[in-house]
Amino acid sequence: MSNANAQLLTHALLQQLDEARHVMVLSGAGMSAESGIPTFRDAQTGIWAKFRAEDLATPEAFAANPGRVWHWYEDRRETVRSARPHGGHHALVQLESMVPSLSLITQNVDGLHQLAGSKNVTELHGNILRSRCHVTGRAISAQWIADSTGDVPRSPYIGHGFARPDVVWFGETLPRHALEAAMEAAVGCDFCISAGTTSLVQPAASLPLLALEHGAAVIEINPMETPLSPHANQCLRGPASEVLSTLIQQLKSWRQDAGQGA
Ligand code: OAD
Repeated sequence: MSNANAQLLTHALLQQLDEARHVMVLSGAGMSAESGIPTFRDAQTGIWAKFRAEDLATPEAFAANPGRVWHWYEDRRETVRSARPHGGHHALVQLESMVPSLSLITQNVDGLHQLAGSKNVTELHGNILRSRCHVTGRAISAQWIADSTGDVPRSPYIGHGFARPDVVWFGETLPRHALEAAMEAAVGCDFCISAGTTSLVQPAASLPLLALEHGAAVIEINPMETPLSPHANQCLRGPASEVLSTLIQQLKSWRQDAGQGA
């Protein structure tokens, strides 16, 4: 394929997308990069290039130093609060209205898909703007957090409890309902789009492969090669905003042409 066509879906895949009954989209940190939220593993700019996950994103790190972890997340929450969805998020909202059913499975914790207007979103790794008790796991309201005075907000439920971000840390299991919804979408979809993920973190990384095994077409949207690339039916190399917007335009033109031809 020439560079000029690097971001265009082949006609065969376009037809499959056009006829798909259930589309699954798996998004990762690259999906939010153009909204100003750093990815995890990009060299230089990625979060794990600057910080050690063991010190900040594990239950042990929180137990050892809740203040350090809470404040590090507070910085990330600030970035998320000021971030806005980009054209790629809006393209996925459009896609949801153009196909019979779409499941958007995201590893992102920033809520940008929902802010853009996507409806059927499953958050595999939680949401950074929510908090929960680090002992009981019960949800803690944003108002409680705002009204808290100490270095780290205490839990309203249990004396020795603290508020922690409602995200999945290394060594923790994913929320069961979210994982079940994701597996169901992967098994049941006929078209899968993996966008902006290194496809390294399990179990999310297995979802497109599961979709493939069950007969779906799989495309990857990522400027870089990933472990999924050799398995994908097509890799669209470019930033998510541009590639997804182009994809929607292609699908619209395809349908328009089909309508005129009929
Ligand atoms: P990574 O940071 O591992 O990967 C981001 C991917 O996005 C890379 O493959 C980039 O090439 C790609 N990328 C960068 N800019 C892009 C753009 N504008 N458009 C499209 N793609 C772009 O992020 P994830 O794969 O999401 O887990 O990481 C998975 C999990 O690892 C995260 O959810 C997080 C992290 O530790 C938890 O917090 C539990």
